[in-house]
Amino acid sequence: MANKVTILLGSPRKKGSGNSELLADAFAAGAEEAGYEVSKIRLAGLKIAGCVDCRMCWSKGVHCAVDDDMKEVYSALDDADVIVYATPLYFFSWPAQIKPAWDRLLPYFSKKSKVSMAGRRAVLLAAAGDDEEDVFDGLKKSFELACRYCKWDNIGEICVPDVNEAGAVSGKKEWLEKARALGKSLG
Ligand SMILES: Cc1cc2nc3c(=O)[nH]c(=O)nc-3n(C[C@H](O)[C@H](O)[C@H](O)COP(=O)(O)O)c2cc1C
Repeated sequence: MANKVTILLGSPRKKGSGNSELLADAFAAGAEEAGYEVSKIRLAGLKIAGCVDCRMCWSKGVHCAVDDDMKEVYSALDDADVIVYATPLYFFSWPAQIKPAWDRLLPYFSKKSKVSMAGRRAVLLAAAGDDEEDVFDGLKKSFELACRYCKWDNIGEICVPDVNEAGAVSGKKEWLEKARALGKSLG
């Protein structure tokens, strides 16, 4: 698991155009400079159901009884030293593309869990259309509480307001530079 970064992309925008994806790419460039292997998972292209609360985690020898594209996410998470959530802000919270991937982390917290989530590092990269900083308050609180629950070390939150149009963050080089520097700081 050493030196591996898994980026979960929440934006449904066309490949390479979402603001959160551009932040993720800047972070990835920095992480690669620091010697990390980076993989990106575009959740919008996957079929991932919500948790069905069957509490049958690991009963079939795999993380989850629901057989869908979450398998790909589980295997990337099992391997990751650093987990990055790159997300658009939708109604002051997570988009529907990311929320099921949070809920489906339940297997890691089952008594029968075969993989520990503790000790990973986690990053939040987010983009929003509104220009007030407090639009991110709900998202950040959710991320911080989730990190605490998962026993992850929250190593950075880069939340960019006032980027409504696709690609708008390209005109805000200082934010992209912050994301790149955070990636590079993985050490
Ligand atoms: C369904 C939907 C909900 C949104 N909700 C918010 C919101 O609550 N606050 C906000 O500031 N922007 C909101 N936006 C704007 C997006 O956050 C903004 O366009 C952002 O750049 C999208 O990120 P992306 O390019 O990574 O997909 C919303 C956009 C959509 C499509």
